[in-house]
Amino acid sequence: MNACASCHGAEAKGDGPLAEFLTVEVSDLTQIAARNDGVFPLIDVIHIIDGRTGGRPHGDPMPVWGQRFKEAMGEAGPYASEIVVRGRILSLAYYIESIQAE
Ligand code: HEC
Repeated sequence: MNACASCHGAEAKGDGPLAEFLTVEVSDLTQIAARNDGVFPLIDVIHIIDGRTGGRPHGDPMPVWGQRFKEAMGEAGPYASEIVVRGRILSLAYYIESIQAE
């Protein structure tokens, strides 16, 4: 709700309040497995959310969450902040996996 619903919508269906202002379509996050032959691509989803791994160019409408979450950790130090960043991203990926449409 904090970071994702503005674009993806409260139900993650790609219909958040900012979606109409973007020039690309916002993904329906409940259909990822359905679009991938019924298999949820956990590692790909982690890379997409993180955004620091080179999978997508910077300046894409989808923010680089790995960087944002790291900045939010402030002075926690590189080790602690990276652990928290990865934990947040993994939690998001598991959550998205849990809301896949049948
Ligand atoms: C500023 C709008 C915006 C916000 C905020 C946003 N996204 Fe996205 N997201 C997009 C757009 C646009 C796409 C489709 C284009 C793309 O894949 O880059 C997308 C695609 C995705 C995809 C890929 C879906 C697929 O079918 O391949 C995932 C996963 C995702 N977002 C997760 C998240 C998560 C998790 C958050 C919150 C931490 C988030 N997004 C926040 C705009 C946003």
